[in-house]
Amino acid sequence: MKGAIFYSSRYGSTAQYAQWIGEATDLAAFDVNAGSANLSEYDFLVLGSPIIYHKLMFHKWVKRNLAGILSSPAILFSVSGAGAGPKLDAWIDESLPAELIAHVEHVALRGRQNPRDLSWYDRIMLIIGGLKNPDPVASREELKGFDFMDQSSIKPIVEMVGQLQRDKTAASDRPAVG
Ligand SMILES: Cc1cc2nc3c(=O)[nH]c(=O)nc-3n(C[C@H](O)[C@H](O)[C@H](O)COP(=O)(O)O)c2cc1C
Repeated sequence: MKGAIFYSSRYGSTAQYAQWIGEATDLAAFDVNAGSANLSEYDFLVLGSPIIYHKLMFHKWVKRNLAGILSSPAILFSVSGAGAGPKLDAWIDESLPAELIAHVEHVALRGRQNPRDLSWYDRIMLIIGGLKNPDPVASREELKGFDFMDQSSIKPIVEMVGQLQRDKTAASDRPAVG
């Protein structure tokens, strides 16, 4: 049994979740933009990305690595301001090929946005988005930021990884047939 976490992160919160999941499961975590790790070395994958401008940030990386991802069981965690629900589901549907969405178990985590950390471009875009957003809660979050980081929210992912590790261990313990 061998799994790994592959993630992207713009401002650090997805990297923080990847680190927490890595510590809880003993899986190595790789930033997909660092580019060195090889998916084919692993029996299962944990994939994590923030939602940035209504898309999973690592959608291009996923498309480039689609065959490798589809050949192993995979868990996808998204990190966003919005919580789980139809809005988030629609952004994920638009980011990824349908076959990949059917293949992964998705867990929605909520992240952090501190206006002081943002690049000028992102800050201005979020101010414009916040002023135009008819939803008062989302508008305030875009303008003022938020912090929904919650280490305990990784629990379903840790449990799924434990299940995969047990499945794989059981498979390798099984006597060879014949
Ligand atoms: C430029 C920018 C665009 C964002 N767009 C969205 C969005 O479309 N929907 C959403 O729910 N959250 C959005 N967020 C919130 C991020 O998903 C959240 O801050 C997340 O924790 C960022 O992850 P990171 O710290 O790993 O980059 C946006 C944040 C930034 C900075």
